[in-house]
Amino acid sequence: MGQTLAEKILADHLVEGELETGEEIGIEIDQVLTQDTTGTLVWLQFEALGLDEVQTELAAQYCDHQTYQFDFKNTDDHRFLRSAAGTFGAHFSRPGNGICHNVHKENFAAPGKTLLGSDSHTPTPGGLGQLAIGSGGLDVAVAMGGGAYYIEMPEVVNVRLEGELPEWATAKDVILEMLRRLSVKGGVGKIFEYTGPGVETLSVPERTTITNMGTELGATSSLFPTDEKTKDYLERQGRGDQYVELQPDDDAEYADEIVVDLSDLEPLIATPSMPDNVVPVREVAGQSVDQVMIGSCTNGGYEDILPGAKMLEGREVDKKTDMIVAPGSKQASELLAREGWVAELMAAGVNFSEATCGACIGIGHVPASDSVSLRTFNRNFEGRSGIEDDNVYLCSPEVATAAAIKGEIIDPRDLAEELGDLEAPGTELPDAYSGSKVDLIAPDEAVDDGLVKGPNIGDVPLKDPLEATLAGPALLKMEDNITTDHIIPATQDILMYRSNIPKLSEFTLSRVDENFAQRALDADGGFLVAGENYGQGSSREHAALCPMYLGVQGVLAQSFARIHKANLFNFGLLPLVIDEETYERIEEGDDIEVVDDVSEAVTSGQEEFTVRVNDDWEFTAELDASARERDILAAGGKLSLTKQQYEDSS
Ligand code: F3S
Repeated sequence: MGQTLAEKILADHLVEGELETGEEIGIEIDQVLTQDTTGTLVWLQFEALGLDEVQTELAAQYCDHQTYQFDFKNTDDHRFLRSAAGTFGAHFSRPGNGICHNVHKENFAAPGKTLLGSDSHTPTPGGLGQLAIGSGGLDVAVAMGGGAYYIEMPEVVNVRLEGELPEWATAKDVILEMLRRLSVKGGVGKIFEYTGPGVETLSVPERTTITNMGTELGATSSLFPTDEKTKDYLERQGRGDQYVELQPDDDAEYADEIVVDLSDLEPLIATPSMPDNVVPVREVAGQSVDQVMIGSCTNGGYEDILPGAKMLEGREVDKKTDMIVAPGSKQASELLAREGWVAELMAAGVNFSEATCGACIGIGHVPASDSVSLRTFNRNFEGRSGIEDDNVYLCSPEVATAAAIKGEIIDPRDLAEELGDLEAPGTELPDAYSGSKVDLIAPDEAVDDGLVKGPNIGDVPLKDPLEATLAGPALLKMEDNITTDHIIPATQDILMYRSNIPKLSEFTLSRVDENFAQRALDADGGFLVAGENYGQGSSREHAALCPMYLGVQGVLAQSFARIHKANLFNFGLLPLVIDEETYERIEEGDDIEVVDDVSEAVTSGQEEFTVRVNDDWEFTAELDASARERDILAAGGKLSLTKQQYEDSS
């Protein structure tokens, strides 16, 4: 039986397991990337592993999320990241140089290689045939140390593209159509592999818009084959020698097939406040628009900004609408500036910003209260723009620009008819991506003599191996559906402490009990008790790391969210499943003692544990863990285990 392209790349990198859907596999990682809000912890973890040098073929540290450097903590983080990249052998991209996914695509993404990144839109270079996956920072630190990355083998789904995009329909409409059909949960546990005759009609930047937003489908990754278009793109980037032809076998078997006829697509828009609330633009036309933004890792490239610039040539942004262009990379800004397009945009009334994520996570250009903002970004979750009552729509640069010209939502086909002389700009690549690269510092150009840690950069706590006895009070009893936001909030005032675990830990579960951190420290150990779906939400590792720092030893819950459960293992906290009756009976403050020899039970594969409460009554709790997860737990977490493995092998 033939192989899919995803299977071919995975097989090339397989170090453990078999490529059977749902089985755990370990793969070798060729490249890693991190950004500024996750990178500080990644490097502190790498330092804690005790290694001198990055072991992957390539590592890159980008500063893109918080580039405005509001206060010294932020700037200290960037300085630390530069010193860590230089010390351990990673490329460093200075603040303002652009968004990690854009800069990585331009400079490093390579067909057939694996990429692991501590950012959810890491799958972007799938448009160039690179198998790229987003993960927690600790996985990235371990991969940088040469360790394998473990995942459950996803289903590989064939997305067959037929036909060709008509005028005014774009790559953004392809992925919005996927979201309309499949919803934000439609890709969980899947890799979307694009095939069919429609593929060759799309340029690489169009393909990466689609793979980037596969994340909104919940997909593990998205992947395109490589062809003349890929080769041409790499040549224009001056990296033609990195081209490799990659195709699935003719008789490859896929778990499922979805057919998208590009010729049937029309301009689409995601209405507030979920990326899968997708409708044709004409359905919401006429709505007054206060703000338009072009940018982000989805549509912030040269090829995304140029269509808007062409549409605005000789025209003006409507007086009641603010239009901001925030390029995805400085390379894009520089090219547009050299060709005169930045001047055209400015003359039309556009506010041209630095290359940054910024507004995508509510940092800068926050919309006015109760206003409408059209953005070319990938997410429009309520409040993400920086104001709770936002109305953010997601669309292509063409739809966004049409709205800026008209001052209201309008299908660009209708605007073209109205104006008479507005032509569809289409997609155009520059002859050569010739932007200067002074903001990218290679490892051999490192400028620091060692790690530079300002007062806000702490160390990463390491946990001791699991002991035989586990006992302590039920520190907090919580309800169902506790999110990672409840455990460690992600608000701006707290985000700045992500590299300072002692300080950040003070905020642990403060939304549930404001004295929790101090109570946990005073108790010197103990358990959390929760109902169903504990830890849902983001992949935030701090939600496990901070309770661990405060001495929490385990969580007793009716069920756990998948990623958070993995994080609990990674930081050495015992996740035990209890039934509803037990949950009802346990009270906050009860004395909890696991009767079994915990260390022995975890390593021997024991699934049921006897737990005594107040020396009075007992219940049975279950541990559902793979052999690898049990090893991690027994060692006191993944960092401790990996450190121990590196020490043993040296
Ligand atoms: Fe940045 Fe937004 Fe992409 S935060 S990495 S532009 S999703």
